[in-house]
Amino acid sequence: MEERCLKVGVVGIGRGRAMIRYANSNKHCKLVAICDNWEEGLARIKADMEKQGKDIAFYADYDEFLKHDMDVVILANYATEHAPFAVKALKKGFHVMSECLPVQTMAEAVELVEAVEASGKKYCFMENACYHSGTMEMKRLYKEGVIGEFEYGEGEYCHNCEGIWTELTHGGEPNHWRNTMQTTFYCTHSIGPLISITGLRPVSVVGVEMYNHPRMRNMGRLSGLYALEIIRMENGALYKSLHGELYSHSGWFNCYGSKGRMETTREDVQMGNLDRVCLDVFKVPGDYTNVDNHVTVTYMPQDQYTKKARAFGHSGADFYCLWNCIEHILGNPEANAIDVYQALDMCMPGIFAHFSHLEGSKELKIPNMRDPKEREAYRNDHRCTNPEKAGDQYVPAYSWDTPPIEQEVWDRFKADWEAKGHPNTV
Ligand SMILES: NC(=O)c1ccc[n+]([C@@H]2O[C@H](COP(=O)([O-])OP(=O)(O)OC[C@H]3O[C@@H](n4cnc5c(N)ncnc54)[C@H](O)[C@@H]3O)[C@@H](O)[C@H]2O)c1
Repeated sequence: MEERCLKVGVVGIGRGRAMIRYANSNKHCKLVAICDNWEEGLARIKADMEKQGKDIAFYADYDEFLKHDMDVVILANYATEHAPFAVKALKKGFHVMSECLPVQTMAEAVELVEAVEASGKKYCFMENACYHSGTMEMKRLYKEGVIGEFEYGEGEYCHNCEGIWTELTHGGEPNHWRNTMQTTFYCTHSIGPLISITGLRPVSVVGVEMYNHPRMRNMGRLSGLYALEIIRMENGALYKSLHGELYSHSGWFNCYGSKGRMETTREDVQMGNLDRVCLDVFKVPGDYTNVDNHVTVTYMPQDQYTKKARAFGHSGADFYCLWNCIEHILGNPEANAIDVYQALDMCMPGIFAHFSHLEGSKELKIPNMRDPKEREAYRNDHRCTNPEKAGDQYVPAYSWDTPPIEQEVWDRFKADWEAKGHPNTV
């Protein structure tokens, strides 16, 4: 094994396959264990790894998996169960890399922060939208002061998943997190990049949600079609985040500063998508009178890994995300990693935006989880859309009413799941 090499275990074999692939191909980590309690899927990946001649241990039980000799646990299990899994791994002395989202409730946020602090281990949030060549370049430009102080921004992540819902919900499980989550839950793809780019903290949010369109009921989903979070940042500037099930796939990020503006191109215009940056800055700062006082450039940033990264998912963002997390854990001070506090800054606007919906789109404060005093009010805040977790603090996934889902929907997904031979998630 290389001197700078981490032993890695992956939980979850859907999205987790991206991490499995990376760990099997990077010399700074070695995949040693895989865990998934879906035994059919686990048997499939085991056969696949054996065919590739990989020496990997397989576990159906997470507690057994945590007994394996490893350095890092990579979590790609259910999005609503990352925090309890992360806390267990940290308490056992492992570093943790977590898929989206970091937590489901504010009580989990308190527990996770405290577990990271007590462990002395590293926690990295794998919010891959922050690792597109375009969003990483915007972060570099912001740090260099090219657009000045952040004044306004917009980010969006729209993904119409109607065509892959059978795969994503394992044949339409009614209680699958993708069916029961509120619209604003999966918010970090649209919010994360802005927070990573500017380093600013969100301090309040207003949530506005679209109604539960028949398309959603046809998928078995209880939430609105899409939602907006209007977020106030610590410097007073506003950020508009949009995400949900609109028409088709679209990602886009835009930042206005006091000296200029920068954005990625939209994902669907085929001009390099989120890997292209468009920058417009004043030639002479502060001269608003001269219409020619602008420099406008557009380019696709490149580095030594650009070509290699393209072979990985999300046009290379998956590569950069994993590379930076592993480098951070190995102690590389240059690594661009997202710690637990920033992970929560990216996630909490979605939690509070939903509470805002439920209170008629009232502006709600977002706490600073770096401050132990601010955490106290949330230690027993279990509000969420999962009745088992929330108990008597349960909140519905939708602010208008609880939409009925016809039995035909579940029967259709089940039949499709059987017809497709129990496919993995995509
Ligand atoms: N960043 C991205 O681009 C991106 C893309 C897709 C998914 N994701 C995230 O990846 C995660 C996984 O999503 P997914 O689409 O693979 O499907 P998923 O959430 O349905 O399931 C993931 C896997 O975890 C396994 N699992 C669940 N509970 C378990 C337990 N107690 N013990 C062991 N295994 C368990 C399931 O059997 C399943 O195979 C989610 O958090 C999702 O948000 C991120």
